[in-house]
Amino acid sequence: MSDTRANKRFRSQEWFDNPNNPGMTALYLERYQNQEYTREELQGERPVIGIAQTGSDIAPCNKIHVFLMDRIKAGIRDGGGIPMEFPVHPIQETGKRPTAALDRNLAYLSLVEVLHGYPLDGVVLTTGCDKTTPAMLMGAATVDIPAIALNGGPMLDGWWKGKRAGSGTIVWESRRLLVEGKIDYDEFISRVCASAPSLGHCNTMGTASTMNAMAEALGMSLTGNSAIPAPFRERMGMAYETGRRIVQMVLDDLKPSDILTREAFENAIVVNAAIGGSTNAPPHLQAVARHAGVELNVKDWETVGFEVPLLLNMQPAGEYLGESFFRAGGVPAVMGELKNAGLIREDAMTATGKTMGENLNGWDSRDPDVIRTVADPMRQNAGFLVLSGNLFDSALMKTSVISPDFRQRFLSHPGAENVHEARAIVFEGPEDYHDRINDPALNIDENCILFIRNVGCVGYPGSAEVVNMQPPDALIRQGINHMPTVGDGRQSGTSESPSILNASPESVVGGGLALLETGDMVRLDLNARTMNALVDEADWQARRDAWTPPELVNQTPWQEIYRKNVGQLADGGCLELATAYHRVVKDLPRD
Ligand code: FES
Ligand code: MG
Repeated sequence: MSDTRANKRFRSQEWFDNPNNPGMTALYLERYQNQEYTREELQGERPVIGIAQTGSDIAPCNKIHVFLMDRIKAGIRDGGGIPMEFPVHPIQETGKRPTAALDRNLAYLSLVEVLHGYPLDGVVLTTGCDKTTPAMLMGAATVDIPAIALNGGPMLDGWWKGKRAGSGTIVWESRRLLVEGKIDYDEFISRVCASAPSLGHCNTMGTASTMNAMAEALGMSLTGNSAIPAPFRERMGMAYETGRRIVQMVLDDLKPSDILTREAFENAIVVNAAIGGSTNAPPHLQAVARHAGVELNVKDWETVGFEVPLLLNMQPAGEYLGESFFRAGGVPAVMGELKNAGLIREDAMTATGKTMGENLNGWDSRDPDVIRTVADPMRQNAGFLVLSGNLFDSALMKTSVISPDFRQRFLSHPGAENVHEARAIVFEGPEDYHDRINDPALNIDENCILFIRNVGCVGYPGSAEVVNMQPPDALIRQGINHMPTVGDGRQSGTSESPSILNASPESVVGGGLALLETGDMVRLDLNARTMNALVDEADWQARRDAWTPPELVNQTPWQEIYRKNVGQLADGGCLELATAYHRVVKDLPRD
């Protein structure tokens, strides 16, 4: 054990070693000492390290952390600290209705309260499933206590009949096969379940792998943390090393505010483009940035990220899954290639205590078929486009997943380059979409654009992953697998849909999307980065004057609290009042 006591008074000693209030000190000691901890340890011999446990039976994507816990604790002990595991409000993407996104801010709030109100000197943030990672980073950013992220890791690769079956992507593919009558209901279920052969989070570059890559690119984890598959021995080693490392971070007082700088966020944006990352990353990183007090804007995703090439050949933008990504070197190999091309801010400080540039020394692709070089990428200009117009102030388009066929039909018209005019079909939410998508009266053809509204943060509530709408069955049978879709909700990170999403402000708070009608013509101009309803000014204003917000029904108290306080996706979908709180660790709570 390193000598931790010599020259530091720990925050936890304000609880456990406060001669000015012997009564409370004794009560704190008495109840924590009856576990494995001794008085000497609690009174300053060792820092107290919280372990924010996001895994449980109800949160299977993160359940591997239940089994990693003894490795994390061993690392903390061997590093000289005391481990104290505590539960986090579960956020299971595939379990929580109406959407797990509703709970990101709830888990964030409760983490802030735990980190602030308990005798903790540092924290290991267990991450994995989509929103668990941003919730943990947001909480650590607000509190500003030394913190390090530990991913649980992706599942093993899924296989079905000799082909890779990736989380999420297999669902979208199988839904089409079901519609085409090529598979039946039972095979549909079997195909999808084959994509999940072990514990771990989604094995595609969906939101989970993306957000963990973001945590690593931000410098909030050890190098190589994010891509190790959950069942691999290296995952246990990473858990142990992460536990050891957080103790030293406490001794060095290395805090999120030292790591979460503008440079760190720029690195994350660049990495997101290079890995073909999820469209959920912008709102989540925006939220982390705001809680960290860092200037970031949705437009930064285009200015910093659009021209970055796609290097990673992983579903949904490519072919492979998590095991191949790990063997090719994972995030540090991608970042090493980007660094070699001068695309990484090397000075950014990280959880290792070294700069990002130092961490990446010696890292490059170990398999050029899986992680390509900047000189020979999968695709140029792989970042997001940020569009605006009379329908929204901002919306994102992920270009790395758009199929050649779709590009041919919509993005490269001879003589009118990248301009597309189409008839709008408007749905009021996912139920309305399912009810009417096959209605012949809508007369949907391959040149229409599908819109969905009332599915943003306030509207849904929580913002639903429903913008990646499928074409009507009849078009799918003709081979039209994708149509442009637009909405004020989100889409799954595993989707390959050419969607324009995260439209802000959302329709229920009066965004322009609220005024659109089925049959309106809409112009998409990707060169100008605009999308506009071609409705004349007076008519548009008349619609606005006649508009009344829809009635929103809350089913739980949290839904009401959330709706009253949440902002828009472009601003991170934060509890707006929470963004005023920074570095709350500096003020001790009352005894
Ligand atoms: Fe949890 Fe994908 S659903 S990681
Ligand atoms: Mg999802």
